[in-house]
Amino acid sequence: MVEECRKCPLWKNRNKSVFGEGPPDAKIMLIGLGPGYHEDREGRPFVGAAGKFLNKLLESAGLKREEVYITNVIKCYLPENKVTEEEFEACTPYLDKQIEIIDPDHIIALGNTAAEYVSRKFKIPFSSMERAHGSTFKISTIIKELRITFMYHPAAGLRNPPLRNVIEEDWRKLFSYIF
Ligand code: URA
Ligand code: SF4
Repeated sequence: MVEECRKCPLWKNRNKSVFGEGPPDAKIMLIGLGPGYHEDREGRPFVGAAGKFLNKLLESAGLKREEVYITNVIKCYLPENKVTEEEFEACTPYLDKQIEIIDPDHIIALGNTAAEYVSRKFKIPFSSMERAHGSTFKISTIIKELRITFMYHPAAGLRNPPLRNVIEEDWRKLFSYIF
């Protein structure tokens, strides 16, 4: 399990690993990048400033935080928000397993790393968030139809105020895909 995992060097930085949270039968799964300072302290995803913004965005799409499953590509503290290929390869089997178990109908990829992950896994094109943000793809797996939406990472909206409006608009539009 991720509490004791030492498959990549990030284990050395962690206080608590962050596996994910939400109902095991959630229909919607959100995938972020990885724990920041506050997440590492609490062992929960999206509890810092980006998390507060995410809660508002969820609400604007008609969703309650408690009804979605929230996790990240990387499970241990990422001091610089950058992921190496080695870390990506080492950690994503956990996310693969989470997707298998939760079996969501809709995955929302938050930011470039999550977008890269879903693009590789489900073989959907992703060139840049500038082009892909707000778009939803429907893909058919052997057993079901799955929707995948690309979104800017909420932290991008906090760093870059003009982007904040774009992100808010993308989330308001998401409502029509969900309901
Ligand atoms: N940013 C992320 O990508 N994930 C978190 O859990 C918190 C901030
Ligand atoms: Fe293991 Fe992932 Fe943590 Fe690396 S980041 S030590 S692979 S849980």
